[in-house]
Amino acid sequence: MQAAANAAQAKLGKEPTIVDAQYKHREDGKTMKALAWFSANDVRMVDAPIPDITEPDDVIVKVTGTTICGSDLHLYHGEILALQKGDILGHEFMGKVDRIGPNVKNLKVGQRVVASFQIACGNCRFCKQKLSSFCDRTNSSSLQNYMYGTRDAGFFGYSHFTGGFPGGQAEYVRVPLGQVNLLPIPDDVSDERALYLSDVLPTSYHCVVDTGVKEGDVVGIWGLGPIGQCAARWAKLKGASRIIGIDRVPERLTFAKEKSGIEVLDFSKHKDVIKEIHRLVPGGLDVALDCGTFHEPKTLLHRGMKMLMLETDVPETVNEMLGSVRKMGSCGLIAAYAGFTNGFNIGALMEKGIRLIGNGQAPVHKYWEEIIKDYIIPGKFDPTFMITHRVPIDDMAKLYPAFDKRVGGVEKVFVETQFSAPPSEGCPTISRVDDWKN
Ligand SMILES: NC(=O)c1ccc[n+]([C@@H]2O[C@H](COP(=O)([O-])OP(=O)(O)OC[C@H]3O[C@@H](n4cnc5c(N)ncnc54)[C@H](O)[C@@H]3O)[C@@H](O)[C@H]2O)c1
Ligand SMILES: [Zn+2]
Ligand SMILES: [Zn+2]
Repeated sequence: MQAAANAAQAKLGKEPTIVDAQYKHREDGKTMKALAWFSANDVRMVDAPIPDITEPDDVIVKVTGTTICGSDLHLYHGEILALQKGDILGHEFMGKVDRIGPNVKNLKVGQRVVASFQIACGNCRFCKQKLSSFCDRTNSSSLQNYMYGTRDAGFFGYSHFTGGFPGGQAEYVRVPLGQVNLLPIPDDVSDERALYLSDVLPTSYHCVVDTGVKEGDVVGIWGLGPIGQCAARWAKLKGASRIIGIDRVPERLTFAKEKSGIEVLDFSKHKDVIKEIHRLVPGGLDVALDCGTFHEPKTLLHRGMKMLMLETDVPETVNEMLGSVRKMGSCGLIAAYAGFTNGFNIGALMEKGIRLIGNGQAPVHKYWEEIIKDYIIPGKFDPTFMITHRVPIDDMAKLYPAFDKRVGGVEKVFVETQFSAPPSEGCPTISRVDDWKN
């Protein structure tokens, strides 16, 4: 699949962009630790050249915190198109400014910053509205253009389908258009509270706001990974009267119930999720949020179709959401989908008058300042609640299968580098993936 996608991409040529994904190596030729993709289920730690300023708007960030996201698991499983051997992954990272291009005026060497997972130009019609993930000028993928009619912004470490930019599971990262794509972090906000502004916090916030959770709503959340856990908290802050989280991982169900005080539904016990939701909420949910994952089909039918390449994605969660909401209810998809699916319940969508919203890749720039100023600094949302583990970057390759299999009750991980500060008070101290227990 990857070979075919890369061949199609090569044949189609590149769309024009204002940034180039290639980077120049530092003059001293030194290398850094980085996580690279080789093939499905094969990621490895490599020594990669340290990037230098390549274009005048670049910033080089020395990474002090990075992590793994549920979206990385789609890459790990080889389900996102146009991955190439040796691609450096990772799209959630923060650090200190190491080098600055001559055009960058708002940052200083040593300044603490967090990067958005997307690389936005700051000037196109989407960027002018802070819809940074939808930027028109940074992703060269003609394949994405061909499949969707338009294309997303370029993303860090997320295949050549999103521009082929080297990612943040590394000790240094070249951040193109650094003035736009880095947010300075105040000294009194710890790395653990800042890192997730890269992705998870704005993403879960966007899912709740964009789908339209209102005061008094009864909300169902499919998937209790970091995105679902945060979405539950945002929904509560937006006034939801009742929240039901659906998953099957025992630790995640307990975590949601005990740490966030929501109701939970174990779908390994309740095979008919729609029926159970209607038993719990007669008439159905006001809002359903898809924070799950398309690479774990529940039914034999979809496992088979996926394996035979008759579909790339599965509709099971969306169909459950369509069945579980009330008439005229809303469903939001923040979970990533890539291509095509069979057996979508279009009848329920139409007959029930459901507002089905593709939330898109989250526009981080629209929310990150609001989240840090209005929620993190005043203590209304403390992102550290979801951090279950801290590991060194040397363990990054082992972290992929462990996070995929949810070993040791893992929710969100803080991955440290040689440049990280010690763990802040109340946050996990260092552990090794090999020592995690199931
Ligand atoms: N749109 C965006 O900008 C954006 C950004 C980040 C992540 N994401 C996506 O959000 C999703 C969640 O991310 P995460 O980091 O929490 O991932 P994760 O893989 O840690 O969590 C997904 C959870 O969904 C559960 N799940 C699987 N199938 C399910 C089903 N049928 N019903 C209910 N639950 C089910 C799993 O058990 C797991 O706990 C992923 O699809 C990820 O790609 C999207
Ligand atoms: Zn992500
Ligand atoms: Zn733009």
